[in-house]
Amino acid sequence: MADPIVWKTAWITGASTGIGREIALQLAARGVKVAVSARSAEKLAALGPGLMAVPLDVTDASACQAAVDKIEAQLGPIDLAVLGAGTYTPVAIDRLDPGQFSRMMDTNYMGVVNCIAALAPRMMARGQGHLSWIASVAGYVGLPKAAAYGPTKAALINLGECLYPEIKLKGVRVSVINPGFVETPLTAQNDFEMPFLMKADEAARRSIDGLASGRFEIAYPRRFVAILKTLRALPYPLFFRIIARSVLKAG
Ligand SMILES: NC(=O)c1ccc[n+]([C@@H]2O[C@H](COP(=O)([O-])OP(=O)(O)OC[C@H]3O[C@@H](n4cnc5c(N)ncnc54)[C@H](OP(=O)(O)O)[C@@H]3O)[C@@H](O)[C@H]2O)c1
Repeated sequence: MADPIVWKTAWITGASTGIGREIALQLAARGVKVAVSARSAEKLAALGPGLMAVPLDVTDASACQAAVDKIEAQLGPIDLAVLGAGTYTPVAIDRLDPGQFSRMMDTNYMGVVNCIAALAPRMMARGQGHLSWIASVAGYVGLPKAAAYGPTKAALINLGECLYPEIKLKGVRVSVINPGFVETPLTAQNDFEMPFLMKADEAARRSIDGLASGRFEIAYPRRFVAILKTLRALPYPLFFRIIARSVLKAG
């Protein structure tokens, strides 16, 4: 396993449950000073006294700025951010609700943008730091029921591609984490068999190893990633035929 002790101080959003929680606990166990954010103050406090709980709603840009100010005043410069706050609800094709789409974009996409806007200027002024966020393999291709979620994740991957080269010139790294299906409260609502389902602690380990290696994209599990990247490269008629047969069980 690569050594994650390249960071002294980390800020994890979406740390009250699931993948973010596991990443926070694993980093803290390995000696990193960790600040944790999510809306639920009680769940953050339950992570233990060794982690700095900074409750916040990532859709509130000024709260993100205040969180960064507070964490850096207390723990010192943040040199790793893992922005994992996110939400998912399936889209019912016969009941399209624009509010569902904008809420998901606000949390999943603008939530990351708000945190980057608060932290990136400080990192760039220091000439060092590592910004990362959790997108998803669902951002590679459009999938049934994911019409509100998938675009937020595609946007996050594209955001990373946009920022990486320019921000690197300022000494700051960017990484995008693209997990497949991971067993968390977010996926507990799924009523279908999730291929290559992974435990959250394993997802956290792979995320941390990938971050320590400094890669731009950290994607797992490998076989699922390879399948979806292959699907993305197919001509659309073939792509839609495969989706209809494998996901919709039609055609
Ligand atoms: N599980 C998967 O299969 C999977 C796959 C690919 C990508 N992902 C992504 O991985 C990230 C973590 O997901 P997870 O599966 O670990 O889900 P999860 O257990 O539901 O965790 C989501 C986290 O985000 C926080 N959150 C939600 N809305 C927020 C807001 N407005 N402000 C601040 N925090 C907020 C939640 O805490 P509060 O409710 O307390 O705010 C929670 O800590 C998400 O971005 C998700 O899209 C998950």
